Amino acid sequence: MTQTQPGPAAAPAPTPEVLAAFEAADGFMPVDEGLALYAAAVEAAQRTGLPVLEIGTYCGRSAILLADAARRTGTVALTVDHHRGSEEQQPGWEYHDPTLVDPEVGLMDTLPRFRRTLHEAGLEQHVIALVGRSPQVAAVWGGKLALVFIDGGHTDEHAGGDYQGWAPHLAEDGLLVVHDVFPDPADGGQAPYRVYLRALAEGFEEVSVTGSLRVLRRAARAAG
Ligand SMILES: C[S@@+](CC[C@H](N)C(=O)[O-])C[C@H]1O[C@@H](n2cnc3c(N)ncnc32)[C@H](O)[C@@H]1O
Repeated sequence: MTQTQPGPAAAPAPTPEVLAAFEAADGFMPVDEGLALYAAAVEAAQRTGLPVLEIGTYCGRSAILLADAARRTGTVALTVDHHRGSEEQQPGWEYHDPTLVDPEVGLMDTLPRFRRTLHEAGLEQHVIALVGRSPQVAAVWGGKLALVFIDGGHTDEHAGGDYQGWAPHLAEDGLLVVHDVFPDPADGGQAPYRVYLRALAEGFEEVSVTGSLRVLRRAARAAG
């Protein structure tokens, strides 16, 4: 009798309903990168039993996937944003969406759209929104994390601050995910790439590359 060897386990993927909600949500992440983020979140949360955290909620597109990964693994997704938008989302800039401006305050406010998006996806109870500036939240945060996903401000000040503030909260074997890593300046801004290089220099190793999404893990310490 021939025995079939089990092949490599398929990467965990969201249900078609969750994927459809992700695709319908406002935001910037392509599907292939979303699937890589989802697989990393499920793997890290399952292995550690700890929450996953994102910096850069915007309207909840990537948060849908993190919330579903948290639901699936019995943890919770945390998502940090001041909800006033990044530099490139302000009026007159490339990524500005005028429907996200609070007309009374005259400033961007992505929190209502985020809340509606997560509610409509049926994932509200699996996500905790932390409304504030990333370095301030990181400074008072006390717990360990399975995964930190950096997708906040794309200047050196902001992306570097996200890494500096949140990487110390990662569990020993947790995963660091960085979005918009473009080694070629012709493809995009360099701050996330510099964060990625800094992480490699400080003991992380690459686990996977999908588009501009890099998944990293702290390199195992040498025995002895
Ligand atoms: C590129 S968007 C996030 C996109 C989202 N992850 C998605 O996939 O749809 C960046 C977000 O980071 C937020 N942000 C920028 N700098 C921040 C900071 N220092 N603290 C908190 N949020 C910040 C902006 O308000 C914006 O909503």
